[in-house]
Amino acid sequence: MDQFDNHYSPKELRTTVSYIRQIIGDYKPGIGIILGTGLSAVAEQIDVHHTINYDEIPHFPVSTVESHSGKLIFGQLQGKSVVAMQGRFHYYEGYSMQQVAWPVRVLKAIGISCLLISNAAGALNPEFQKGSLMLINDHINFLFNNPLIGKNQEEWGPRFPDMNEPYSVELQSVFTKAAQKLNISLQKGVYAAMQGPMLETRVEYAMLRKLGADAVGMSTQPEVAVAKHIGLQCAAVSVLTDECNPETLQPVTLQEIIETAGKAEKILVRLINEVIKNLDMKNP
Ligand code: HPA
Repeated sequence: MDQFDNHYSPKELRTTVSYIRQIIGDYKPGIGIILGTGLSAVAEQIDVHHTINYDEIPHFPVSTVESHSGKLIFGQLQGKSVVAMQGRFHYYEGYSMQQVAWPVRVLKAIGISCLLISNAAGALNPEFQKGSLMLINDHINFLFNNPLIGKNQEEWGPRFPDMNEPYSVELQSVFTKAAQKLNISLQKGVYAAMQGPMLETRVEYAMLRKLGADAVGMSTQPEVAVAKHIGLQCAAVSVLTDECNPETLQPVTLQEIIETAGKAEKILVRLINEVIKNLDMKNP
């Protein structure tokens, strides 16, 4: 590996995919779901066909955060074939950006044509309350790195991917309609991706708000960058676990964040179920 090596090659992708294929046979999930911190309940709804632990998959990073259990779950949800990532990788854990987003390349190679992402985030917009959901309509990358840096694999995607519509407008409308139908309040806004692992300072929250962000977290941008690179439609929802208002800021612990995520995930589960039910897989 030299300084222009971006860690993964098409050969490695073939190795990873053929290992997974040995286990799942010709099972072809159309929808990928990434479950964020404290948000694994969606996986419990899946009628499971196969489960594969990350640590047995060649070239797959292994989770280090205790709140993430680390497995791929293949099965049926609302009559559709899905694969859920229970546990995701964060830049703050020390992985390279390419490792963080690698599973997205793998899921696409296994057949998904649509990626639904969830995360836990802090609310910056003072009108957004903790415990509610926000559909991400754009993001600002404050990770100061991204998974597309390095040699470009032309067979995977273009050198300069367009980011005009990072989150599929069509999928956003499926989410909006599902929320309306279920009477779920779904905010919409801009997600600021920060490195972490420390939460932000009061002044950083004020800055992010001024720059136009409505929520802040430590994930999602890398996966979305790769999804755009490989032409995969995606949508992302933040569960707002704490309020990041500089004037009224209170200390918050991971425990509290996970507890709030746990309460809100019941709503997320209903929303994701309804979205999946309504997805037209020929044109998701
Ligand atoms: N920052 C602040 N609050 C949060 C975050 C974050 O990255 N993630 C979840 N709540």
